[in-house]
Amino acid sequence: FVLRLLRSRVAVVRELAESWARRRIVVGAAIVRDGRLLVQQRARPAELAGRWELPGGRVEDGEDEQDAVVRECVEELGIGVRPRGRIGTDVPLGDHLLLRVHLARPADGATAAALEHRQVRWVGAAELGELDWLDADRVLVHSLRPLLR
Ligand code: CDP
Repeated sequence: FVLRLLRSRVAVVRELAESWARRRIVVGAAIVRDGRLLVQQRARPAELAGRWELPGGRVEDGEDEQDAVVRECVEELGIGVRPRGRIGTDVPLGDHLLLRVHLARPADGATAAALEHRQVRWVGAAELGELDWLDADRVLVHSLRPLLR
């Protein structure tokens, strides 16, 4: 009986691990400069418009995560960044996606523009909790705060 119970538990854990591994990664970029974090306000879709998020998006087939971070920052902000490793926890987005955040350093003197968003802002530790974050991004707030002033 104990053996059967153990086997069924193992099967449950394996199924969970496999369904996790099948999820497509959405990278987020935590761009920090002088103790402030770059945040952007969505313009679309309508149900998310006005809410705040980290820059980022789906990793393409065959692309590695760091390259996706760099590409998304060019597309969304028009700036070059250097990825500096993952931070915080992976956050499930619905049934098929997983948000994974990488710290990123902006190129010297780069000015970020809201190319696909309503606006971008640089925020300090005090403003972090006040933003109307997307649900998944809000989970990362406590991991981001220690990086800021
Ligand atoms: O179109 P693309 O793959 O570049 O990215 P997207 O449509 O902006 O993001 C894919 C999904 O991840 C959407 O459901 C977004 O709401 C979500 N997302 C998020 O929750 N937090 C982010 N910082 C970026 C994307």
